[in-house]
Amino acid sequence: MARGGYATVYRAVQDSVGREVAIKMENRTLDNARDQARFLREARAAGRMSSHPHVVDLVDVGVTVDQHPYLIMELCDGSYLDRMRVKPLSPAEARDVGVKIADALVHTHANGVLHRDVKPANILYSHFNAAVLADFGLAVLGEMRDSSVTLEVLTPAYAPPEMFRHEAPSGAADVYSLCATLYAVMHGRPPRWPSDRSPGLLTLMHLFDEAIPDLPGVPRALTDLLRRGMHNDPRGRPSAQELLHELSSMHLDPYAPPPHPVYRSTSTYVPPPRPIPPSTPTLDETPTVTTDRKGFFAKWFSW
Ligand SMILES: Nc1ncnc2c1ncn2[C@@H]1O[C@H](COP(=O)(O)OP(=O)(O)O)[C@@H](O)[C@H]1O
Ligand SMILES: [Mg+2]
Repeated sequence: MARGGYATVYRAVQDSVGREVAIKMENRTLDNARDQARFLREARAAGRMSSHPHVVDLVDVGVTVDQHPYLIMELCDGSYLDRMRVKPLSPAEARDVGVKIADALVHTHANGVLHRDVKPANILYSHFNAAVLADFGLAVLGEMRDSSVTLEVLTPAYAPPEMFRHEAPSGAADVYSLCATLYAVMHGRPPRWPSDRSPGLLTLMHLFDEAIPDLPGVPRALTDLLRRGMHNDPRGRPSAQELLHELSSMHLDPYAPPPHPVYRSTSTYVPPPRPIPPSTPTLDETPTVTTDRKGFFAKWFSW
């Protein structure tokens, strides 16, 4: 279903109960301590959280005979990255996704887990569930924080400024990323993100100083809340619980049309939403920042 820098996701059938599932298999084998730690972190974080209705259900984990670790999960139909590329969400739809994922974050934070990679590609939907948080690959468990989570795997379009300064991770980073995600699903691309190119690190740090524009058709109260959630100072942001509360108590017209689409530069092929999975591999989940030998940011892939 999808192929990234770290993993390949397959659609499969669990024979014993005859249900469809998704299998996420690590591309690399588990032969070094860092990869083992990354896999264990994801398995434990996902397993611990998966009883929440808006966290993807984990069925099992294991290692293949040739040492590739895998996670077996509930099968979803697609991600909000796919959806926002086809059609931006209306304010009420985005708010509803926000309520569900903020609720998942309240639960994960209360259990000492930070997700650290909230973004449209990691929020999935299925026929029975409008939003589930997936991909705990970067999650940090309170008791097993390790330094293998670095800039190399950040998705800069949704990462708060403090992550680029290597500050200790906190729940405020997930709040930032969720607010950037909600803005993006209504806008068609991440906040302040140029349409035609991916910024280098210097430009990116500068972008954090730019104002976050209003979106046509999006009530000011919603944009203001998302702006507060994307405050450059983590202490200026609401907690996941406060974000949940404010989003749930906001009155939005469920019939209001979505804002005008703002697609990425013209020639990009936009796949239709599943049921039929795209046959082309997606790069969304490849490491989104790569460094050259001097440690400069050479390139970032798609958001
Ligand atoms: N349970 C699932 N059901 C359907 N599609 C999934 C599922 N898990 C992942 N995917 C697809 O695979 C992509 C990559 O999965 P993810 O867990 O985010 O891996 P990575 O660690 O490579 O980012 C997702 O963006 C989504 O399109
Ligand atoms: Mg992902």
